[in-house]
Amino acid sequence: VVRDHLAPWLKKRPEINSYSPTGVGLGPEETLRQAARLHSMQGATAVVLGAGAGNEADFLAPHGVKRVIGADLEAHETRWPQRRAQLAAQGINATFTLMDGANYALRDSSVDVVFSQSVLEHVVELDTALAEASRILRADGHFVAWFGPLWSTFGGSHVAELGFDHLLVSKEELLDRGRKVGDGREYWLELDLFNRMKYDDYIELLERHFVLEWVSVAGSPEATDFRDNNPDMWSRLREHHDEMDLMVRLVGVVGRPRR
Ligand SMILES: C[S@@+](CC[C@H](N)C(=O)[O-])C[C@H]1O[C@@H](n2cnc3c(N)ncnc32)[C@H](O)[C@@H]1O
Repeated sequence: VVRDHLAPWLKKRPEINSYSPTGVGLGPEETLRQAARLHSMQGATAVVLGAGAGNEADFLAPHGVKRVIGADLEAHETRWPQRRAQLAAQGINATFTLMDGANYALRDSSVDVVFSQSVLEHVVELDTALAEASRILRADGHFVAWFGPLWSTFGGSHVAELGFDHLLVSKEELLDRGRKVGDGREYWLELDLFNRMKYDDYIELLERHFVLEWVSVAGSPEATDFRDNNPDMWSRLREHHDEMDLMVRLVGVVGRPRR
């Protein structure tokens, strides 16, 4: 009832278990807690998709995960050995390796958890990556992801100062504006490593490969402010975008392989 009042645009989305207008109360750790509530992770082997510097292992450790395989397209040559040593001291066997989430060098049904944070919005071949996650997961394993900002919301270009510019100006102009902000986040615009998918696209692909057991959605207070203070620009955005797409900032999911 509260959800319908706060966000009428969520009414037709029965898969959503939890909604936070600001994101407070949701996040990667909460998503993992929901996963652990559904299936124990004691002694589990977890793959971290898009492991970056390897920090996610700290979220997995409290749930009893004993083996972590961090995969990324980019190596963190100094950080990975440090993380490996830190985690070994906590009794976690960690490996970080260059590996594409769309093509794991791992056997079928060999891991208990595939986890990712702030990665799915960058995975261009997401259908293939989800099929791969499903392939390497044991039948009773689970896929856990927290991702965003989604491309279609405020700050979806990852340069927060650019607000909704990415939906309103050309690629070249956006890159130019990003470079002027110069906070380092223009890195993502330079790489153009975004799949530009909308909420419904993600749910459709996720449901193709997983039975979704938990979905949480965080709204964007910045998008709400923008709507309230820039009615003309909002009308322009609404000509091409659903209100929900403009409003949903972050998404958390837990699913088991659909076999
Ligand atoms: C925004 S960073 C997040 C890194 C880390 N999860 C964190 O939160 O600090 C996204 C990461 O996903 C990685 N990535 C994108 N597509 C990938 C793929 N197909 N396979 C593996 N890693 C990928 C990128 O290289 C990048 O390190």
